[in-house]
Amino acid sequence: LVAGVDTSTQSCKIVVRDADTGELVRSGSAKHPDGTEVHPDHWWSAFLEAAAAAGGLVDVAAIAVGGQQHGLVALDAAGNVVRDALLWNDTRSAAAAEALISELGEGDRAAGAQRWADVVGSVLVASLTVTKLRWLRDAEPGNAARVAAVALPHDWLSWRIAGYGPQGDPSAPLGPDLDALFTDRSDASGTGYYDAQGADGAGEYRPDLLRLALGHDDVVLPRVLAPAEAGAVAHPTIAGSAVDGGALIGPGAGDNAGASLGVGMVPGDVAISIGTSGVVSAVAPRRTADGSGAINGFADATGNALMLAVTLNAARVLDAARTLLDVDFDGLAALALQAPAGSDGLVLVPYLEGERTPNRPDATGTLHGIRLATSTRPHLARAYLEGMLCGLADGLDALRAQGVPIERVMLIGGAAQSPAVQQIAPQVFGLPIAIPAPGEYVADGAARQAAWVLAAARGGTAAPGGAPADVAPPAWSTTIATTLPADPHPIIRDQYAAVRDLV
Ligand code: XUL
Repeated sequence: LVAGVDTSTQSCKIVVRDADTGELVRSGSAKHPDGTEVHPDHWWSAFLEAAAAAGGLVDVAAIAVGGQQHGLVALDAAGNVVRDALLWNDTRSAAAAEALISELGEGDRAAGAQRWADVVGSVLVASLTVTKLRWLRDAEPGNAARVAAVALPHDWLSWRIAGYGPQGDPSAPLGPDLDALFTDRSDASGTGYYDAQGADGAGEYRPDLLRLALGHDDVVLPRVLAPAEAGAVAHPTIAGSAVDGGALIGPGAGDNAGASLGVGMVPGDVAISIGTSGVVSAVAPRRTADGSGAINGFADATGNALMLAVTLNAARVLDAARTLLDVDFDGLAALALQAPAGSDGLVLVPYLEGERTPNRPDATGTLHGIRLATSTRPHLARAYLEGMLCGLADGLDALRAQGVPIERVMLIGGAAQSPAVQQIAPQVFGLPIAIPAPGEYVADGAARQAAWVLAAARGGTAAPGGAPADVAPPAWSTTIATTLPADPHPIIRDQYAAVRDLV
């Protein structure tokens, strides 16, 4: 058996699967406080609770952790977190991002933006870890001075599972060994100081960029593992001791890379995830360097690139509509389906509290085209849904503009199950849409990685330094629950674009 963990913005989810067939054996989850800054101890408690809910992990032979990307987990020399983690959705470092762009461009913003894209694959926005480090240096110099290591949410949790943690903490029997931290290419590629294609394609940290943010590079960074390389073994007090020598801990992944492994994306597929963030992502052999900043060129969990556009206004737009109209999700879907495509010209540009793609951290939303005839609950419901989907469709266009082939959309995330989303998405995206069976795609991807690590270890050649090229990820199949044909209604995107370009 193998276990996959998803330490997400809101909860911890664990799946236990058969390593050979991928069959789901058990699962468990636990919620933890969310928001934009959180103490990592909440993730640890939620992990322990979710593991118990999944019937314990004593019988798993390998485990891997996927997680929310970018969060700054700054540790001091004794292994304590220096302050609450600043998460991917915290926008306080927007000005720091701009400063770093301009500094790398020696005063020329456009040149600086292109340089960041060339070196690390992404133009900086507030989400990326490097901007949070600059913010810390400027706003909390006392805390910045205490930083001895910089980790991300998933690699901090892997470290804890291996038995490391704050000095004197009984749940961390191996103590605060910062050099034991490890991560993977996908999550490292979202820091802003890791070049996944540098050093002859093997990937390398960029201490020069760290120095630009922090003023020095005297911090420990997690070792970046190859895709199927084990980083440690789970400590017996945490994951049990039934497995000889303890369960192998895989490199883990950022959640988007984990989901892409979980749903088995192939080139030509684009995943659109409607969750706390809206993510449009595609796997490609090499990343591009989009100086406009619309596309982040991250790494995936298998050795390819994962190019993605991220919006901050996805599921929360639907939540806002529910609150406004005082209905539940089913009620919102029923209302939206009563209005015609295009909602008779009622358009929502959904930048409700800032946006990341396009990079408008201070933007607000706009509702346009209110007439007597469109002042109805169905029109409003439909406009909110269409606006949210049009924001994601802009991400699809940005991927296309980078030359990424797009043949099919895989629609994932909680909102993908909504009948209104399923009816309207083919109209907005104009592409066939596959909806995988509901699942915990990030945790599933982590489990698939754990099975891969196990296969590599059993092959006897997975010595640190890389996965053997002849061991591929296990071929677990993904069940596609629904396939929807393309049904383009160009008016929806045309009227949206007209209003978006006004605001
Ligand atoms: C990706 C991003 C989000 C988080 C959500 O760049 O910021 O998708 O990973 O957990």
